[in-house]
Amino acid sequence: MTPISTDTLLEAHHWRYAVKKFDPARRIPADTWDALEQALVLSASSYGLQPWKFLVVNNPELREKLVPVSWNQRQVADASHFVVFTIKNKTTEADVDRLIAKTAAVRNIPAEELAFYKDMIMSDVVVGPRSAIADVWASRQVYLAFGNLLTSAALLGIDTCPMEGLDPVKYDEILGLTGSGYSTIAACPCGYRAADDLYATLAKVRYPRSEIIQHIS
Ligand SMILES: Cc1cc2nc3c(=O)[nH]c(=O)nc-3n(C[C@H](O)[C@H](O)[C@H](O)COP(=O)(O)O)c2cc1C
Repeated sequence: MTPISTDTLLEAHHWRYAVKKFDPARRIPADTWDALEQALVLSASSYGLQPWKFLVVNNPELREKLVPVSWNQRQVADASHFVVFTIKNKTTEADVDRLIAKTAAVRNIPAEELAFYKDMIMSDVVVGPRSAIADVWASRQVYLAFGNLLTSAALLGIDTCPMEGLDPVKYDEILGLTGSGYSTIAACPCGYRAADDLYATLAKVRYPRSEIIQHIS
């Protein structure tokens, strides 16, 4: 891998902001979107369990229907692409078996050699302390993917708006998730900022680095 420069990294972070107004006429090229979907799939997750599904909502009528249950935020309908982050509400033994089988196949090792790994996951997120908060645990994982999408998109010059301003129950109804074992957590319109989005010119509001980062020696 050729590392990007520190300047490029920071330029992307300064360039990114939560876009309030997207240009509805501009579409993300297919190859760029394809790379962003791959970046989403490559997101890190605890034990590699990937307790999520990312819904890319392309249907314009559905997206219009989501606007009123998204605090009337037009980004939902106007952005080129719209991703809904959902979690798998419960992690079961079948999920762990699936991961073990996939790992054994991809890495060409006998599944029995991964028995300790299965036990470790089971005793934590399936029957252990974290099983009681499986949905909270899964949400934490999906937020990592969410952050990954924001940064990946910015590095490719694609605008985003992280969005929690929505009614997850209504989203589940409209997207047919109710009773599916998956639930909406958040969403992310992706595309290009409108030329007259005033938020593009606002200075970033961040606390001083000296207050946020503490060096312990
Ligand atoms: C989890 C999360 C949810 C957010 N929800 C919304 C939202 O619903 N609508 C919106 O316009 N901005 C939303 N924001 C954007 C934040 O207000 C914004 O990231 C923050 O003010 C920092 O500004 P910047 O991202 O433009 O640098 C959200 C941000 C995060 C991380």
